[in-house]
Amino acid sequence: MVLDELKNELEKELKGINSEKELKALEKKYLGKKSKIAQILSCLKDMDIKQRIKMGKEINEFKKKTEALIKKKSLDIGGFDRKDGGGIDVTVPGKNFLKGHLHPITLVTREAEEIFSKLGFEIAQGPEIEDEKHNFDHLNIPQDHPARDMWDTFWLKKKGLLLRTHTSPVQIRYMEKNNPPLRIIAPGRCFRYEATDASHEINFYHLEGLMVDKNVSASNFKAIIRKFFEEFFKKQIKLRIRPSYFPFTEPSFEVDIQCMICKGKGCSACSQRGWIEMAGAGMVHPNVFKAVKLNPNDWQGFAFGMGLDRLTMMKYKIDDIRMFFKNDLRFLEQFS
Ligand code: PHE
Repeated sequence: MVLDELKNELEKELKGINSEKELKALEKKYLGKKSKIAQILSCLKDMDIKQRIKMGKEINEFKKKTEALIKKKSLDIGGFDRKDGGGIDVTVPGKNFLKGHLHPITLVTREAEEIFSKLGFEIAQGPEIEDEKHNFDHLNIPQDHPARDMWDTFWLKKKGLLLRTHTSPVQIRYMEKNNPPLRIIAPGRCFRYEATDASHEINFYHLEGLMVDKNVSASNFKAIIRKFFEEFFKKQIKLRIRPSYFPFTEPSFEVDIQCMICKGKGCSACSQRGWIEMAGAGMVHPNVFKAVKLNPNDWQGFAFGMGLDRLTMMKYKIDDIRMFFKNDLRFLEQFS
């Protein structure tokens, strides 16, 4: 085709164009009165009939194609100065920005903080890298005591430093600086060196609670924890308190709620037990008071450590704790 070359030239030039002004000039060059097309058109009359028909067709096609290309380019570069509104289609729906959202554990932590705040608890915090004193010794777990086996952890190179195995050291840190009466919670990340499965991870979240006053009993604890669960799950829950052992509480107990995923039948999240262990708890051990220079004859208190991951699992019916740290967007986006 005679016009092939012209078409190629046009396409090449179009690529370099960025403004409506340049585009107008190009339109003039290729379709205007002084364009090559206009020249060819003016020669048509001298051609024989057959050639004239063929050429006429080609010219029409070229014109149509050129007009279409120019229109498209005009839309691409915005076409703001076109009389027909150019590239702006006000009816096109706006683009949605991708918004971030909170992790399910963060959502649950904030909700728990809110409920405990209403019950008069203050929020305290402590470091994730702890020292042996706060994580163990002051909690009545001396070196070489077999109870340390319950909290195997990651030790740092610097002697005596470790990744905290629970939030209980925050009890110590808080009581070192504040005198009773006191009511605190301390949510935060903890670490343990252990095998992972559907209900265990090497890093997880606890919410510590501590209430110290002149006259605090285990029944106060029971009332508070029940109130919390009922506010949190917004319904009646089945609660069970069993005797247990922790070096820093005496007596100690374990708080279970009936598994909400299987409703007590047994599933992977509750290790087929029908009950889920939600918290360890007990009455503050006299040695803990002594470690923070409080007289155990003057003060009494309860403490508890609740698994925030488990709480989240129960709330949203998630049957594998490992989902929280997999970064699988199909899972995480359900909480936006
Ligand atoms: N710190 C304990 C744990 O790691 C939980 C706990 C906290 C128990 C406070 C009693 C009192 O399991």
